[in-house]
Amino acid sequence: MEAKRKEPRKALRIKVISMGNAEVGKSCIIKRYCEKRFVPKYLATIGIDYGVTKVQVRDREIKVNIFDMAGHPFFYEVRNEFYKDTQGVILVYDVGLKESFDALDSWLAEMKQELGPHGNMENIVFVVCANKVDCTKHRSVDESEGRLWAESRGFLYFETSAQTGEGINEMFQFSQYEVAEGTETFYSAIVDLCDNGGKRPMASMSVSFTKEQADTIRRIRSSKDSWDMLGVKPGATRDEVNKAYRKLAVLLHPDKCMAPGSEDAFKAVVNARTALLKNIK
Ligand code: GTP
Ligand code: MG
Repeated sequence: MEAKRKEPRKALRIKVISMGNAEVGKSCIIKRYCEKRFVPKYLATIGIDYGVTKVQVRDREIKVNIFDMAGHPFFYEVRNEFYKDTQGVILVYDVGLKESFDALDSWLAEMKQELGPHGNMENIVFVVCANKVDCTKHRSVDESEGRLWAESRGFLYFETSAQTGEGINEMFQFSQYEVAEGTETFYSAIVDLCDNGGKRPMASMSVSFTKEQADTIRRIRSSKDSWDMLGVKPGATRDEVNKAYRKLAVLLHPDKCMAPGSEDAFKAVVNARTALLKNIK
């Protein structure tokens, strides 16, 4: 008797959008992935570009509808209706342009506003692409800063170059035989989300560091001097400096803190304390 063949699972349909400032490389990342090529000439997306691609993730066939948005403010009216019913967002910035990184928050805000009070940003997979990493000379946002921003929000983070192709396949999906155990990619995270009834699975939401740690690292990076870094007033006593130092050291010690950039922040705090104590009697 012939064994009953297992019905193939129905193809999953998902909607993905791209977001980020004009000229950061959104269209080029999608083109690199779908067509394996790169166009150096800038052709601004007019409103929205739409494309469909089929991919295989584990045992699933997935039909991906990609809406590639224009980053220019001029097209706000066109793109604002495309935010809804989205499972995945590709958030892109140019590592050589700090303002494109700083703009990520306003992109999230625009989406949140368009989704309205009943929209749920929690159940969307976000991947951050730190793009144009091939232009190493002009880099102004380093990896730990970008990774910290992304991972403290539960977003995936990849360093990419649409020009060389670096990170692009790794971001969307490792080829199946290469996929390392536990490595989440954009598509695999979306499949997990769909399999979980449209809710982001708990595991992928858990962040391995606290908000206090992330905020402290950001504060240390932007501090103007050693006093400011330790969070003490200029002219503070040895005791006050040591106390502030110990608190930060416990919070940020690289053995305890998994946040990106914690090692550098820890070193900076150690140096700041040394410098201050040298000048206090
Ligand atoms: P809008 O559609 O206007 O929102 O821009 P976009 O984000 O889609 O940018 P697009 O992909 O059109 O790329 C903008 C420019 O950056 C083009 O000139 C690309 O050739 C260039 N570019 C994109 N990605 C990379 C990259 O990884 N490295 C380098 N060096 N240039 C890139
Ligand atoms: Mg574009």
